Amino acid sequence: MTMVWDEIERLGRRIGEAWARTSRDEAAFAALSHEAVTRAEPWRTLSVEALAEAALEHDRVPVQTRFSEQFGEPSVVLFRGESFTIEVLFWVDGLVSIHQHRFSGAFCVLAGSSIHCRYRFAEARRVNAWLRLGALELAHAELLARGAVRPIPSGPDLIHSTFHLDRPTITLVVRTDADIESGAQLEYRRPSVAIDPRALTPQQQKRLELLQTLRAVRSDLYWPMVERVLAQGDLAEAYLLLHESRASLDDAGCQRILALARDVHGEALDGFVPSLADGDRVRSAMWLRRATDDDELRFFLALLLQVPSRAAILEMVGERYPGVDPVERVVAWVERIEVDGAPLIERAAAARWLALFRELVGGRTDRAEIKAALAARGLSYRNDFELYSELTALREIPLFAALTC
Ligand SMILES: [Fe+2]
Repeated sequence: MTMVWDEIERLGRRIGEAWARTSRDEAAFAALSHEAVTRAEPWRTLSVEALAEAALEHDRVPVQTRFSEQFGEPSVVLFRGESFTIEVLFWVDGLVSIHQHRFSGAFCVLAGSSIHCRYRFAEARRVNAWLRLGALELAHAELLARGAVRPIPSGPDLIHSTFHLDRPTITLVVRTDADIESGAQLEYRRPSVAIDPRALTPQQQKRLELLQTLRAVRSDLYWPMVERVLAQGDLAEAYLLLHESRASLDDAGCQRILALARDVHGEALDGFVPSLADGDRVRSAMWLRRATDDDELRFFLALLLQVPSRAAILEMVGERYPGVDPVERVVAWVERIEVDGAPLIERAAAARWLALFRELVGGRTDRAEIKAALAARGLSYRNDFELYSELTALREIPLFAALTC
């Protein structure tokens, strides 16, 4: 155990000294901590067993001042420097959120692996400090293996998601306590919303919670109260209510809330609607992923959850499973997905559906070419309208949108 503490202590002191030489400039911390972690190579000596034992030592672990708040399962501070910490984070299931940070530093994969995606956000409309509309665009996607180290600049310089694949994945995070210049801790919801849900006032939070309770136990009161909250509340409250309703109400209920919110906020609401639909994709992929122990399918579903790019998905499939055409691998995985013990793709419709899916995943978009490719496999359509209808239906499946659109 001493080895873990020695290693962390040495790293902490080195970072503390380097940072002091910059007058503890927050803007310098990401680069210097990235360099220190890269040079220390902590993944070579810090095993899962040694870290778990160290994190459970009563007398050595520093005072823990933050709750994990879904960030780490759990996260444990192992070193406390002056205005910075070194933490180890244990992960069982990945984080879905795309976010930026109010701190700067660096992270390193000590065990397991992660999907890491970086994004750009072009702001089109500011609602307030913690709610923005714009276009979120994937900048880079990569698989991180044990030993990967990445800097964490605070604020919008790093908008990212880190989805941890293996159970457990363990990461080391060196971070400042807080960078006061970094603004709101925005989360991004594809394709257009940036929001800091922690910025809700306690009153707003309690109104939303009370509505959930009423929906569960007094549905007669729920709709009048929804109307009242929407009439008096702001755009952020309406968005969060709509977002929550997608997970808990049927289609008709969601449409009813959307109509009520439109009555109050008008066209201002339109920019938020696509991100509500994207929530359906996230929920279905999470649900399917939790329902299977198949490691390959869990990896595939993690890609569908996290990576909004056909090319990046295929590249990562090829990197993780070399030797087989990634397109064929993806088609085989889709055939294997089951819902309640039955195949997701009905056997009766499977041959033509899968052939069509294969063409889209392979990057073919021209309808005449798709028709010819299917004909070469002995699969035909009665007319072009039938092909168009099947293509449209397939492209409208949110789960596969990254691969088919
Ligand atoms: Fe992060």
